[in-house]
Amino acid sequence: MKQNTSGQGVTRRHFLGYVTAALGAFVATVVAVPVVGAFVSPALKKKGSGQWISLGAIDKFTRKEPKMVGITVVKQDGWVEARQPRVVWVVAEDNNKFRVYNAQCTHLGCVADWDPQDRTWKSPCHGGVFAFEDGRVLAGPPPRGLDSLEYKIEGGELVVNYQDFRLGIEEKTAL
Ligand code: FES
Repeated sequence: MKQNTSGQGVTRRHFLGYVTAALGAFVATVVAVPVVGAFVSPALKKKGSGQWISLGAIDKFTRKEPKMVGITVVKQDGWVEARQPRVVWVVAEDNNKFRVYNAQCTHLGCVADWDPQDRTWKSPCHGGVFAFEDGRVLAGPPPRGLDSLEYKIEGGELVVNYQDFRLGIEEKTAL
């Protein structure tokens, strides 16, 4: 169907050509954006920036005892993404203030457990003991106290900025 042979207007063949080219460009964009993102995003991801994870409603934490909360973190290794379990300890204080600790013992990474008799955290591996008041080392080989984590309250939930830290050294260094 030729509508115009004088060079003005658009023939059906030209019109289909434009539509095909436009569709091709659209498909190329849709495919390219995630592919480029997948390559660029891990390279730009800031080391030690942490992951904000909800620990649930703030009213489930009381001042009486620290509460252990299990979370899942997403670890990016190059282009590979893995989900890994982690544990934090939460201590509620007055006026909606909290202390949140990474439960990994700073010696070699065993999960420090709460001893309600002694009111200390104890690492089951090599006898590390941490104080309730501030997570400092009371005994054993841990080179520093429990690592505290940044938190915020959002919509009535306690949200922690979870990070792993280098083990076995005195300085608190995010991985
Ligand atoms: S891992 Fe905790 S004392 Fe060694």
